[in-house]
Amino acid sequence: MKSNMFSFTHSLPTTIFLVLTIFLHPSNAQLNSSFYSSTCPNVSSIVRSIIQQALQSDTRIAASLTRLHFHDCFVNGCDGSLLLDQGGNITLSEKNAGPNNNSARGFNVVDNIKTSVENSCPGVVSCADILALAAEASVSLGGGPSWTVLLGRRDSLIANPSGANTSIPTPTESLANVTAKFSAVGLNITDLVALSGAHTFGRAQCRFFNQRLFNFSGTGSPDPTLNSNYLATLQQNCPQNGSGNTLNNLDPSSPDTFDNNYFQNLLKNQGLLQTDQELFSTNGSATIAIVNNFASNQTAFFEAFAQSMINMGNISPLTGSQGEIRIDCKKVNGS
Ligand code: HEM
Ligand SMILES: *[C@@H]1O[C@H](CO)[C@@H](O)[C@H](O)[C@H]1NC(C)=O
Ligand SMILES: *[C@@H]1O[C@H](CO)[C@@H](O)[C@H](O)[C@H]1NC(C)=O
Ligand SMILES: *[C@@H]1O[C@H](CO)[C@@H](O)[C@H](O)[C@H]1NC(C)=O
Ligand SMILES: *[C@@H]1O[C@H](CO)[C@@H](O)[C@H](O)[C@H]1NC(C)=O
Ligand SMILES: *[C@@H]1O[C@H](CO)[C@@H](O)[C@H](O)[C@H]1NC(C)=O
Ligand SMILES: *[C@@H]1O[C@H](CO)[C@@H](O)[C@H](O)[C@H]1NC(C)=O
Ligand SMILES: *[C@@H]1O[C@H](CO)[C@@H](O)[C@H](O)[C@H]1NC(C)=O
Ligand SMILES: *[C@@H]1O[C@H](CO)[C@@H](O)[C@H](O)[C@H]1NC(C)=O
Ligand SMILES: *[C@@H]1O[C@H](CO)[C@@H](O)[C@H](O)[C@H]1NC(C)=O
Ligand SMILES: *[C@@H]1O[C@H](CO)[C@@H](O)[C@H](O)[C@H]1NC(C)=O
Ligand SMILES: *[C@@H]1O[C@H](CO)[C@@H](O)[C@H](O)[C@H]1NC(C)=O
Repeated sequence: MKSNMFSFTHSLPTTIFLVLTIFLHPSNAQLNSSFYSSTCPNVSSIVRSIIQQALQSDTRIAASLTRLHFHDCFVNGCDGSLLLDQGGNITLSEKNAGPNNNSARGFNVVDNIKTSVENSCPGVVSCADILALAAEASVSLGGGPSWTVLLGRRDSLIANPSGANTSIPTPTESLANVTAKFSAVGLNITDLVALSGAHTFGRAQCRFFNQRLFNFSGTGSPDPTLNSNYLATLQQNCPQNGSGNTLNNLDPSSPDTFDNNYFQNLLKNQGLLQTDQELFSTNGSATIAIVNNFASNQTAFFEAFAQSMINMGNISPLTGSQGEIRIDCKKVNGS
């Protein structure tokens, strides 16, 4: 009895403590905004200042960096896996997989950021967190919203090229399929519509939308959801048998500015990618009301975008002692 009494009075709090510990550490650790407050307090301004410098010679770079965080997070979570080059144990990289090869860009700027961060706080800040910080700084420098970036992600030891092929939506998919790919990583249609608004800046190559321009789905005609004046412009810029690599502004009305024009374009049948226009032109879809809201109220878009970027940034991070802090974002340490 005495020992039962003892174990009752002393082990229940201990048990609660252990259960809480197991639930909170390490793999269920939450990201937070103060993760580097004592180990690298200036990391956000370092990231921002390198991007500002890069923008002087490349007005597209803010868009490119924003996209990298998306392509990182959708494949094995936000773990810097996208940044690994082929070599050593990485037999195939994500950056050369279908959705990224000759398309994803900005890796050199990520390396410049990493070098600068390593100079201030060696071995402390993960490449995955640099992508999250770079996305926020890029959107904000482009005129979009700012938000408090959650931090504490660690870097993967592996890349998943087939995952990149299957998890990242392609621009010719149906809305139902894109919605399923977002849902697979815990994002709903509000997130889908808000995050698609990142196509308010940056460029797209002809090869990603030219199936809409001449003989859409074997109909012998262009995509009927393309505004006819816009269609003529696009046909000129992306002729049949022309180079599929020619660049086009995703938002011709303000190519490098982060605003809600993307949604106003959709209302005019001026979405560039098939997956853009589908958000508004898929009959009966619940996404239509969300597009209308964001088109008429930029504040609503900015608030939703910031929240959805946080949601996306929370996809399966490595935390605690999982993974590592890479010294060079392109390579697993020691390889
Ligand atoms: C909804 C599904 C999406 C599809 C199918 C899609 C597809 C594409 C494609 C095909 C391009 C052009 C790439 C090229 O020409 O090389 C592109 C560019 C871009 N995407 Fe997306 N995207 C999607 C969602 C997102 C999300 C969620 C974000 C970020 C939050 C994003 C950010 C960007 C940006 C900023 C660019 C321009 C990049 C640059 O100029 O370098 N996209 N996207
Ligand atoms: C942030 O997360 C880290 C790692 O989980 C933890 O050590 C730290 O106490 C957290 N900070 C706050 C303010 O919650
Ligand atoms: C933080 O970084 C910025 C940009 O690199 C720099 O201008 C500033 O002096 C730094 N502040 C501190 C306290 O190191
Ligand atoms: C990536 O593109 C290059 C051409 O720039 C090509 O040689 C290479 O085979 C492509 N990689 C993959 C994995 O498809
Ligand atoms: C990914 O898709 C490309 C075609 O886009 C294909 O060549 C490649 O083999 C695929 N890679 C993997 C690892 O599945
Ligand atoms: C949607 O996904 C299904 C199953 O993966 C596939 O068979 C179909 O071709 C896709 N449709 C479109 C339009 O992308
Ligand atoms: C999507 O999730 C957010 C919470 O992150 C919620 O506020 C929103 O209402 C959801 N949207 C839909 C269409 O369910
Ligand atoms: C459009 O594509 C379909 C299917 O590939 C083909 O049968 C048809 O001849 C094409 N029409 C024109 C006008 O090129
Ligand atoms: C594109 O090339 C094909 C085959 O080389 C040719 O038959 C066709 O007429 C060309 N189309 C245009 C618009 O030049
Ligand atoms: C959507 O509805 C409109 C008007 O009812 C119709 O003209 C159009 O063909 C429909 N589009 C699709 C893709 O079903
Ligand atoms: C725009 O959206 C914001 C944020 O949701 C909301 O507070 C505001 O009332 C909306 N403005 C209008 C005019 O509806
Ligand atoms: C490569 O993989 C082998 C076998 O899993 C492992 O022992 C080694 O540590 C890995 N190398 C690096 C640099 O991670």
